[in-house]
Amino acid sequence: MSSQEETFLLSLTINGQTVQVPAGTTILDAAQTVGIQIPTICYHPSLTANAVCRLCAVEVIGARTLQPACVVTVESGMVVNTETARVNEARRVILELLASTVDLRQAPEIQAYIEQYGARVGRFVGGVARDFNVFDDNPFYIRDYSQCVMCWRCIQVCAEDVQHTFALTWGGRGIQSYVATAFGEDMPDTTCVFCGNCVGVCPTGALKGKVEFDLERNTADSRRE
Ligand code: SF4
Ligand code: FES
Repeated sequence: MSSQEETFLLSLTINGQTVQVPAGTTILDAAQTVGIQIPTICYHPSLTANAVCRLCAVEVIGARTLQPACVVTVESGMVVNTETARVNEARRVILELLASTVDLRQAPEIQAYIEQYGARVGRFVGGVARDFNVFDDNPFYIRDYSQCVMCWRCIQVCAEDVQHTFALTWGGRGIQSYVATAFGEDMPDTTCVFCGNCVGVCPTGALKGKVEFDLERNTADSRRE
């Protein structure tokens, strides 16, 4: 490495380990260089990070609030802790709130986090849950926003990050917000080219291939009979 490149390396401490990474590296990526995994939901390595889920929150000494590791970049001398009681409690509550409002039965990564952080999935049950009819308006995939954690990955992949199709946008408000099409059009009437990228990046069962969806539905129907 040339001395010029070396001048751009920053040194920081993560969980007591000294880490040296180039300026501009996020805390998430810096931690990964020394084998420290930080949990994420909305983050995807191929997409612009929007930092909407906050599961990646970490403690940065001197910062008033927890910081989202997927977007905050390292600074020289930074001291980061990724698994303190405060961090773990924040993650636990995020997971408990998600589990209370979203159907996560088909979200295996989130289920693993629920187990890892000891989240009590029934803690806030009784509040308002996300409740949508399944959008089944084309031969290729369905949209079930009862299972949507609003991570924005599908919107990002459909927009300038990958596909440049811009078929998806944001609709509704608060707990009933969802990924929408322009003017609520059925998918075949939008700019969607059915590339499948949105289905590929969805971390839950909210977007699913029609074949898989029909198979599951038929199996469930035959069990009821
Ligand atoms: S449909 Fe899937 S990818 Fe899109 S926002 Fe919801 S959970 Fe994320
Ligand atoms: S993974 Fe960082 S905010 Fe969602």
